[in-house]
Amino acid sequence: MYEQISHSLLNEILDELKPEIRRQNLRHFYTRLGANFYAIHSLFDQLYGNREDFRQKIIELVEVLASRYIERAPELEQIDMARERDHNWFLSEEWVGMALYADGFAGSLKGIKKHLPYIQELGVNMVHIMPMLVCPEHASDGGYAVSDFRDIDPRTGSLKDLVKVANALRKRGILLTLDVVVNHTSNEHQWAKRAREGDKKYQDYYHVFPDRDIPDMFEETMPEVFPESAPGNFTFDEQMNQWVMTVFNTFQWDLNYSNPAVFIEMVDIILYWANRGADIVRLDAVAYLWKKIGTACQNEREAHLILQMMKDCCQVTAPGVLFIAEAIVEPFEITKYFGEDAVIAKECEIAYNATFMALLWDAVATKNARLLNQGLLSLPDKLNRATWLNYVRCHDDIGLGFDNLDIKKAGYEPVPHRKFLFDYLTGAHETSNSRGHPFGLNQKTGDARISGSLASLVGLETAIENEDEAGVDRAIRLILLLHGLILSFGGIPLIYYGDEVGTVNDYSFKDDEHKAGDSRWIHRPRMDWERTEKRHQRGTVENLIFDGLKKLIGVRKTIPAFADFNNRQLINVENEHLFVFLRNHPEKPGEMLLVVANFDSRPQYLDLSDLSKQLRVHGASLKDLASGESPVVHRQHLVIPPYRFYWLTDQ
Ligand code: GLC
Repeated sequence: MYEQISHSLLNEILDELKPEIRRQNLRHFYTRLGANFYAIHSLFDQLYGNREDFRQKIIELVEVLASRYIERAPELEQIDMARERDHNWFLSEEWVGMALYADGFAGSLKGIKKHLPYIQELGVNMVHIMPMLVCPEHASDGGYAVSDFRDIDPRTGSLKDLVKVANALRKRGILLTLDVVVNHTSNEHQWAKRAREGDKKYQDYYHVFPDRDIPDMFEETMPEVFPESAPGNFTFDEQMNQWVMTVFNTFQWDLNYSNPAVFIEMVDIILYWANRGADIVRLDAVAYLWKKIGTACQNEREAHLILQMMKDCCQVTAPGVLFIAEAIVEPFEITKYFGEDAVIAKECEIAYNATFMALLWDAVATKNARLLNQGLLSLPDKLNRATWLNYVRCHDDIGLGFDNLDIKKAGYEPVPHRKFLFDYLTGAHETSNSRGHPFGLNQKTGDARISGSLASLVGLETAIENEDEAGVDRAIRLILLLHGLILSFGGIPLIYYGDEVGTVNDYSFKDDEHKAGDSRWIHRPRMDWERTEKRHQRGTVENLIFDGLKKLIGVRKTIPAFADFNNRQLINVENEHLFVFLRNHPEKPGEMLLVVANFDSRPQYLDLSDLSKQLRVHGASLKDLASGESPVVHRQHLVIPPYRFYWLTDQ
């Protein structure tokens, strides 16, 4: 958009840029800056317009954008331009992701290179390497307490190794996702150290207070993220003799985005990793970016403005790079992280579908899809050109963050229902063989979350221990069922490393005093590469899961109806054990695919006579693309075996 004030300011800024920047060939940079500057300027003005250094700061920001653009490798610029032309590229059915810790998966970054054939064998073509930047060894929060945003932890490798991995991935057509922990730093970060030494400039990078007055006011409305291990939201720093805001762990200092210097630093860091080869940047804990007394300090409007500005800036310098929003918040808040008032994503193109994930676990525990269906109705439609990251497990806990109203509409009472889920997933319930572990128990609110690996949560660990063949079979079916759903729901499916071979809980964290208080370590395994070899031995657990998943991934990539163009319709069916939805071919509306999943331990049927009018589905000609078989249809009743799912087409 053209607007006089921002346009004349832009001209002045360009005149004032450092001579070394002005000398460069910046054609594409200028066209993109011209297109985005109005938005950047007005957002910057909304957040920082009342500051005396406003003009200085916006010049600094443009200098950062230009400097990182100049640095961007020609190969990456080519990719930027190709993606500008094919801007829907990431909505395709072709993408399948895996999240992994470099050290847990392969010992190191070098190890990842070695195991790329394994990743490709499975069909994964998007790899999220979890944070591996310099972190204090015993206060790392699994890599999310960063003490140097520009260097790799030597225990995992070096910057050179990372660039090599990025190049190797690119050659194989695999996308690289990297984290930028935008909300906080480790207390060992240079900025925090300087703040502690009394440097006012860096104290202003954080939320620092001389006494408890303001912290106490904040506490009145702020929930606790880690109530057991880090109660409260402020930590007293002896050296500084002040209180500092620490929403997560006591060693993670929240950054102060009301200071434009922090914003500029972070944009610089995001672009730094874009230039090291990240195709996608996962922005951590984005819901927390803005703090305001009297609020929960989550999902504040300004947090969205910051993300919009980050997106606009990234589009100027590295437009091919996408953002993932890690915002594990209520359904109606999650979709806002795509951006609200535009067709195309204006904040993050991708967001974790935490709602779907948690609802899937409800269906596993209850063996029905009542809350799953109800809860999905509460998930607002997302923008076009935005997509979900659908997952079953990740490195974090499972929060039971459903809407109380939805729980009621599904026919339960919220408090006992949550208690049932918690008991079921932790194995306390008599019908359960799940091995989840409690996480983040909050005595004040009664909130409880769950850790545990996928395999242990679905009972594989218990079944193997008890030599219970039926239990093993059930667990494998459930693992494939859950993946069958994230592969077909619409969005990028994200497999969690180890789940593809049924990795069970790792209890070794209990022996490490620095990890013992955080049960999420139970599901951050070290890959056992000898065991993964068993995937080649027919009939082993590893073989059944790996091969099953590999086939599903292969089939997903051939089904255009699985691309994400808001082409999904939930189908209400009478049988509560079934979860049913329809996917349409984005360009050929007549071409449809029906997904039917049975969460029950008994076979269930779906009456096709009602469906056939609505959907033109005829029993006689149905084929399940997931297995390649024709399902049993008895007198217009489709039969779905226990814990099975179908991807049905009309042949
Ligand atoms: C994100 C990460 C989580 C971490 C938190 C604080 O939610 O996924 O692992 O503990 O941010 O950095």
